Amino acid sequence: MNDNNLLEKVVALAKRRGFIFPGSEIYGGLAGTWDYGPMGVEFKNNLKRLWWKDIVYHRDDMVGIDAAIMMNPKAWEASGHVEAFTDPLVECKVCHKRFRADHMFELLEAIHRKSTRAGAISLTDKQKDMLLCEKKPGEHELKDFTEPKNFNLLVKAYLGIIEGQQSEIFLRGEITNGVHVNFRNVVDSTRVKIPFGIAQMGKAFRNEITPGNFIYRSREFEQMETQFYIKPNDEEGEKWFEYWKKDRMDWYLSLGIKPDNIRFRDHEDKERAHYARLATDIEYNTPWGWQEIMGIHHRGDWDLSRHGKFSGKNMTYKDSITGEEFIPWDIETSAGVDRSILFLLFDAYTEDEKRVYLKLNPKIAPIKAAVFPLLGNKPELIDLAKKIYRDLQEKIDGKIAWDDRGNIGKRYLYQDEIGTPFCITVDFQSLEDQTVTVRDRDSMKQERVKIEDLYLKLQKYLL
Ligand code: GAP
Repeated sequence: MNDNNLLEKVVALAKRRGFIFPGSEIYGGLAGTWDYGPMGVEFKNNLKRLWWKDIVYHRDDMVGIDAAIMMNPKAWEASGHVEAFTDPLVECKVCHKRFRADHMFELLEAIHRKSTRAGAISLTDKQKDMLLCEKKPGEHELKDFTEPKNFNLLVKAYLGIIEGQQSEIFLRGEITNGVHVNFRNVVDSTRVKIPFGIAQMGKAFRNEITPGNFIYRSREFEQMETQFYIKPNDEEGEKWFEYWKKDRMDWYLSLGIKPDNIRFRDHEDKERAHYARLATDIEYNTPWGWQEIMGIHHRGDWDLSRHGKFSGKNMTYKDSITGEEFIPWDIETSAGVDRSILFLLFDAYTEDEKRVYLKLNPKIAPIKAAVFPLLGNKPELIDLAKKIYRDLQEKIDGKIAWDDRGNIGKRYLYQDEIGTPFCITVDFQSLEDQTVTVRDRDSMKQERVKIEDLYLKLQKYLL
């Protein structure tokens, strides 16, 4: 990434064009929450729909579920989250601000190593946040901070109607548990046989110590996950772990992410989550360095064994042919929806002398095509354009936009900024020969296309 202001530019475009707004903005916001606007929700739904098609519909070894966000708290004890879902927290003794110790030490190291003014090194949001501390960054020493203590990231909620008798529950810290607790139900109610997977997507909540970098680290976010159950042996484990790594990398590449901006990073022993035997991240080259977009984890039998133990229920699987009975191992893929959105925006953001545009793959672009009458005050143009608009909207799986405001150049520029791949204009010639102009977002070239051919032309890019 060589544009140092890319994050700021993407945040500004996201707000200006209705992708993402700060959560409850009119009340001053709520740290770590974001609201998706009219473009953002289309973009996000397109991404999730593509993921679901790829993972659930295009495979015969995967089924989907949608489990409740609120779960019996025992599930979180069983999965180890109550005990071990923590980040190390330190507090500055001067200003009492709290930071993640691992991030803090990185910052101190950077500052002291470079021994330079803060402006001379590239700082992340959370690092900039620290500069609001009363001490200047160069003056900070390790002794200014309390000893790191473990801070649990699970968000608590209170359920029940009688004051004082409400039970404390957790909002899910990852969407995974809802799948594992339903393993038995899925095996008993469907025709799946090992190896098979269960896919799910939905919201997760974490009391992040330092949310930041826009939607990169939020307190409420969405995940898309697969839990793939296999026979419990090392060879199978390694085979499927490698398989899912490649499969997920290929999926991101198929969305159009530039190959130079995406890579694998294997976890070292000390950084692996409490449940993981092997872990690899897929990372994206953000303006503040390589960052995780998704994780692939070999979870072994951690989850099913623990849920079996804590619930007293049988979590084994019986092979119908061999009669062999075992607790399956699980290879997990866990992607952040919001991080995928952010990194796709970084990748697509393009500027030239004339304009800013998003070079998004048409499959994920919020608007598939926009239809314009050349002039907004000629009923004959409007009638034909409206007919085309309604007809396309009927047939195309995604949003078609209508715009008859202002001059045509401005309409094109607006659609460019939100990444609309095609703009269709109905002009006076259209009334005579039943053709329209189709303008390509990236080349800005226009061609005349017969109205009857429009659907097939668009559909070619959307499948
Ligand atoms: N079930 C495994 C799991 O949750 P994780 O690495 O903690 O693993 C998976 O999270 C993905 O969820 C991450 O790669 C990231 O994309 C997304 N994610 C995690 N915490 C997030 C946060 N605070 N804000 C936005 N996305 C987050």
